[in-house]
Amino acid sequence: PRDIDGDLTEILISEEQIRARLAEMSRQIEVDYAGTDLLLVGVLKGAVMVMADLARELHHPVTMDWMAVSSYGSGTQSSGVVRILKDLDTDLSGRNVLIVEDIIDSGLTLSWLLANLKTRGPASIEICALLRKPDAARVDIDVKYVGFNIPNKFVVGYGLDYDEKYRNLRSVGILAPHVYSTAAAAAL
Ligand code: PRP
Ligand code: MN
Ligand code: MG
Repeated sequence: PRDIDGDLTEILISEEQIRARLAEMSRQIEVDYAGTDLLLVGVLKGAVMVMADLARELHHPVTMDWMAVSSYGSGTQSSGVVRILKDLDTDLSGRNVLIVEDIIDSGLTLSWLLANLKTRGPASIEICALLRKPDAARVDIDVKYVGFNIPNKFVVGYGLDYDEKYRNLRSVGILAPHVYSTAAAAAL
């Protein structure tokens, strides 16, 4: 085990579980988009891992573009404030857009993003998220593809960060409270 493993209380979803679930989701996406154009829009930075693995799992030609938005800052709670840090390079008019996200927590980021991208005239727009926390939802969003519903705990790994760290873990784990309570105490 690596030293950062001490910062996790448990592995919630293993590398193998992620791989298997992304394969299942990919089979469904292939059916749903058969014979059509598909533009994957990844939401930086969290979605990098799921985008890379989903895109390579799909037996379907795709194009990929990226948007950077941020709602968390360095804390553990959604602020609801969404900033565009980098916009798409692609014109969405007439395109079939699939937004790729690592996690839907409060849903505020995606609900804002969905409304924003819908104004750009896509032929269709859907969401694919590896993780969703049903108990943290503050807005209702229609999510077509969900990997795992998870409890309302602070999770990191596979793209998900705490203070920009842990994104490169291969699995999704629960961050030990001592990690962020120490940081919170230090900020007082
Ligand atoms: C995280 C996560 C989602 C969003 C979910 O991104 O990757 O994009 O928060 O939260 P919400 O449903 O409560 O809006 P973050 O803003 O931390 O940026 P990051 O992807 O660069 O880590
Ligand atoms: Mn994100
Ligand atoms: Mg983050």
